[in-house]
Amino acid sequence: GKEQTLGLIKPNAYSKRADIIGLIKKDGFTIAEQKEVTLTRNQVENFYAEHRGKKFYDELCTFMTSGPTIALLLEKADAIKEWRRVMGPTSVETAKKEAPNSIRALYGENVTKNAAHGSDSPESAKREVGFFFHVEDTYAMIKPN
Ligand code: CMP
Repeated sequence: GKEQTLGLIKPNAYSKRADIIGLIKKDGFTIAEQKEVTLTRNQVENFYAEHRGKKFYDELCTFMTSGPTIALLLEKADAIKEWRRVMGPTSVETAKKEAPNSIRALYGENVTKNAAHGSDSPESAKREVGFFFHVEDTYAMIKPN
C-alpha cells in the first residue's frame, strides 16, 4: 500500500536539485513536504547515529554539514523500497555499473558524496521522517478542544 519515506538530496547534489526532483516526480512519487536545511554537526551526528564508530563516520558528518540538504517526504506505494531503487546502490561505482540511470550513478561523486539518502526500513522511515518533519501520531497526540 501507500507508504512514506524520507529522501535527502545531499550537499554535493544541491545544485542538481531541480533535475533530481524532476526524476522523483517522473517516477511517480508525491512530494508531500519539502525542506531545505544546512545541517549542524549535532544534527548530522544524531541523524547518522547508527554509523557512529565506523571508519567513514567522521568524513560523512563533515560532508553533510558542508552545504544545504533538501529533505523530502516522499509518498508512493512501497515508497521505501522504490526510493532505494531510484537512488541506486550506495557505492557510486556499483551504481554506475549496475544502475546507470539511478540518481547515485548520475549525480554521485563517491560513496560519501553519493547524492542521495533514503530510509532503509519502516522503522527508520518513521524516525527519519520525524527528524525533519512534524508527524502526527494519531495514537499519542490528543488535541485540546
Ligand atoms: P547513506 O544512505 O546516506 O547512509 C550512510 C552513508 O554513509 C552512505 O549513504 C554513504 O554516503 C556513507 N558512506 C561512506 N562510506 C561508506 C561505506 N564504506 N559503506 C556505507 N556507507 C558509506
